[in-house]
Amino acid sequence: MDIKETHWSPLLLDWFAAHGRDLPWRDASPRDPYKVWVSEIMLQQTKVETVRPYYDSWMEHFPTLRDLAAASQDDVLRQWQGLGYYSRARNLHQAVQEVEAKYGGHVPENRKDVQSLKGVGDYTAGAILSLAYGKKEAAVDGNVLRIFARLYDIEENILSTAMKKEITALVQEQLPDKAPGSFNEALMDLGAMVCIPKHPRCEACPLSSLCLAHELGKEGELPVRIKKQKHPVEAITVLAVSQGTKWLVHRRPPQGLLASMWEFPSVQGKGKDGLDAACRLLEGLGLQVSDIEGPVGEVKSVFSHKTWQMTVYTAAAAGEILQEKEAWQWLERADYTRLPWAGPHGKITAMV
Ligand code: ADE
Repeated sequence: MDIKETHWSPLLLDWFAAHGRDLPWRDASPRDPYKVWVSEIMLQQTKVETVRPYYDSWMEHFPTLRDLAAASQDDVLRQWQGLGYYSRARNLHQAVQEVEAKYGGHVPENRKDVQSLKGVGDYTAGAILSLAYGKKEAAVDGNVLRIFARLYDIEENILSTAMKKEITALVQEQLPDKAPGSFNEALMDLGAMVCIPKHPRCEACPLSSLCLAHELGKEGELPVRIKKQKHPVEAITVLAVSQGTKWLVHRRPPQGLLASMWEFPSVQGKGKDGLDAACRLLEGLGLQVSDIEGPVGEVKSVFSHKTWQMTVYTAAAAGEILQEKEAWQWLERADYTRLPWAGPHGKITAMV
């Protein structure tokens, strides 16, 4: 049998009926959207066995979406205490309040609206829509990517956006009309118990006879997961200084990042250290700095190999530039548009 030509969902659904896990958020069929939502958010960075007692206690405190919406943030955070990643709880609380206010407490039944809620991404939206509302929506997380990479012998990086899109399309093809929610839950359980990361238990898998990786003996090699290099974040202090109606600008060196483009005076560092360094730079040129104000703004700029996190201050500068004169200019605001600005510095022209 060629897996690409096969509708194999019945094999998975039969296995799920016999081996699916009994979990507290699976206490009704169809599932309660509020319960799916809470459990999925709790399960995002946390294992099922850790989540169980928190989930039970949560449902005692906030049995319905309305109870959660009416709760204080302190109460919500107290219930979350110990689960970590507290923004999950804050976002969930806010999103539930939005559902209460905007949709009369009814979790939306379409992807656009449900995904516009804070903290609800592709996966959680797919889970809510399929499990609670029987919609044919994929819910693709790391488990699903791994299962499909093995089933279809996908050697490309499953962490790339393109591959996630392709696998989502493969899931979509398989989603059964009748029980899309069970299909998604079955994938969760298969990924947690059988098609596990290191040593998959192929002998227990309902799909092993179709699985290309299994046939080729590659189940241990797949999936391929190549994480994007995490690049450094550099803190940059920008001290834009004026003299009368003119602002000081600097042409960057002819080589390197943003070569020969213009910027406001900038140094590495943040807070007091950053400001001290910026003052030293300007004083080194022959200027006296006063009346520092700010921060007047923040700009983030992502390059291929690093990110600048820039904090912008303003100040007055007295005196004359005595050093490196050719690289520095006093510029009228009206002339800002004449210069080729060094990337994010173009945005700073609107702040100073
Ligand atoms: N992992 C993520 N979501 C899950 C769910 N609803 N049940 C079991 N494991 C999960």
